Amino acid sequence: MDLGITGRRALVMGASRGLGRAIAEGLLAEGVAVTAVARNAEAIEAWGGGIAGLTAVSADLSDVATIDALADRLLADGGVDILVNNSGGPPPGPAASVARGIWLAQFETMAANLFHLTGRLLPPMRERRWGRVVTVASSGVEQPIANLALSNGIRAAVVGWSKTLAGEVAGDGVTVNVVLPGRIETTRLAELDAANATRSGTSVEAVQKASIAAIPAGRYGQPAEFAAAVVFLASQQASYVTGTKLRVDGGATRAI
Ligand SMILES: NC(=O)c1ccc[n+]([C@@H]2O[C@H](COP(=O)([O-])OP(=O)(O)OC[C@H]3O[C@@H](n4cnc5c(N)ncnc54)[C@H](OP(=O)(O)O)[C@@H]3O)[C@@H](O)[C@H]2O)c1
Repeated sequence: MDLGITGRRALVMGASRGLGRAIAEGLLAEGVAVTAVARNAEAIEAWGGGIAGLTAVSADLSDVATIDALADRLLADGGVDILVNNSGGPPPGPAASVARGIWLAQFETMAANLFHLTGRLLPPMRERRWGRVVTVASSGVEQPIANLALSNGIRAAVVGWSKTLAGEVAGDGVTVNVVLPGRIETTRLAELDAANATRSGTSVEAVQKASIAAIPAGRYGQPAEFAAAVVFLASQQASYVTGTKLRVDGGATRAI
């Protein structure tokens, strides 16, 4: 299938490793010019330096001034056609003991600053009557994951925002969707498995075995498998898909 996005321009947040990197690579393979962003832009250069069409930029989602500077830079050049909202994950912890200040700081980083960035980049998409906004959340919005209160709580708000926005801009040719990773093999997943092992006093191998036992596919997913779903939603071919949540979880979420 020709995805029909050769020559489009994309911004991919959280692209120095893991899911964001795989999404950036997937878009580059389709001939999309990608601005890839993370705090550590050198890490982007390390995997992508020399790839035609890739620009590495440093910005910090916890610092709105850097997000505004990023938006200014992109808008000065006409903006982007595709926005991939991806952020770092929050620390694990139970709902009963998250401090108020942590809720606020993580909401700013994982939600408010992505909403703000999207708001800034939408006008040229709407004027051109073509745009794609794809946001990475978590399967925890459908089946909350124990000890990930910040992720479950804040990402539920992100899904509500995405659905509301989808209805506002669908008539302008802009689609807005959310993709829900289950357990995809990245640095983040390795960190969470290690934290679970420490918390439960077992080995990382035992934690992984238990996790995989709950996944019908019988394995963790690969970043490229996740990225393929995002690239499809960013494509011309997904022009009538908006306001959705798409699971990429090997069947792990039990609800239909
Ligand atoms: N992997 C999974 O199975 C899974 C499952 C559910 C949800 N998720 C969520 O999906 C997202 C991506 O997951 P991942 O596994 O790819 O995570 P990851 O391996 O930890 O990568 C996170 C990326 O975000 C960047 N980042 C972190 N904090 C940032 C900040 N303040 N400003 C700008 N960029 C920042 C990191 O680069 P720098 O450190 O250089 O900034 C990195 O490129 C996370 O939010 C994660 O919680 C992942």
